[in-house]
Amino acid sequence: MKALVLSGGTGSRLRPITHTAAKQLVPVANKPVLFYGIESLVEAGITEIGIVVGDTAAEIEEAVGDGSRFGARVTYLRQEQPLGLAHAVLIARDWLGDDDFVMYLGDNFIVGGIAGPVAGFRRDRPDAAILLTKVADPALFGVAELGPDGRVVSLEEKPAHPRSDLALVGVYLFTPAVHEAVRAIRPSARGELEITDALQWLIDRGHALHASTVTGYWKDTGNVIDMLEVNRSVLEGVDGRVEGAVDADSELVGRVRVEEGAEIVRSRIVGPAVIGAGTVVRDAYIGPSTSVAEDCVIDSSEVEFSIVLTGSHIDRAGRIEGSLIGRTVHVTGAPRAPRAHRLVLGDHSSVHLTS
Ligand code: G1P
Repeated sequence: MKALVLSGGTGSRLRPITHTAAKQLVPVANKPVLFYGIESLVEAGITEIGIVVGDTAAEIEEAVGDGSRFGARVTYLRQEQPLGLAHAVLIARDWLGDDDFVMYLGDNFIVGGIAGPVAGFRRDRPDAAILLTKVADPALFGVAELGPDGRVVSLEEKPAHPRSDLALVGVYLFTPAVHEAVRAIRPSARGELEITDALQWLIDRGHALHASTVTGYWKDTGNVIDMLEVNRSVLEGVDGRVEGAVDADSELVGRVRVEEGAEIVRSRIVGPAVIGAGTVVRDAYIGPSTSVAEDCVIDSSEVEFSIVLTGSHIDRAGRIEGSLIGRTVHVTGAPRAPRAHRLVLGDHSSVHLTS
């Protein structure tokens, strides 16, 4: 069995972070979302991986390389334009050959991995299988309608009036039967070849489509709180480990991972939290559910339930909560009156001020 991992797209819902970085490389507990996906494929016994890339190809290739560090063999497949998920299957036809495969959307995060569904598919070998999850906002997803016997009756992409709250998770299991389907369908109203339509095509022609449900699912809905939530849930599983330096005036409470070369000086860190390699935390408080990436400085500030990306400086900033801070961002307290906010914000940034 092979895996087709989709890593194109522009990430418009996660702006401004995705103005400068591929959405699949946004880190959760200091590790890119995409890496969790690749690891879960390898865990499910799939090591032959094709990654479909678009405009952010260079960045993805640089991060993932040949896949050897995951115990996988990675081939890159170029999709010149983002013409839909079913289009990705079309362009990967030669590489896929006549193998069964998992299609995995690189911006999806499934807590607990996919070993179970993959084993089920290998055992029963239906023509295709999908994963579903209950969501609060089904109109943002592909939506499945199930019959009384639990079979999938219909599938609809981003319906204005969803027939259920069961969303298609971005992991699909296919036999080569899908190739005929992706060739047969036509572009949707948004101009894309939808995998949802290909699945409906299979149902209409009597092919067996299995559906199972998962919990612990997250996708980049653009709601930063979702990202913070998945970060929180992954941090729940981190081991406390100190590979950097913690001085005698600092206190680590609970599970805190201090990566190599990080320095904790006169500070208090309450886990679960991760402090990235080379980061300095000085006269500061880091609260639970916080990931600080590599080479940051957190000085005389408090940061809780937040994600801070590589190379950012937070200095005399008071208390920061529920925030996603990009790369090489500077957040600094204003030293003198007048009390005013001075902001230099990139396009599509958002700021919540308390006064
Ligand atoms: C795609 C699929 C949709 C699915 C979603 C899961 O949506 O078209 O059916 O529910 O992935 O991530 P898109 O990422 O194009 O919004």
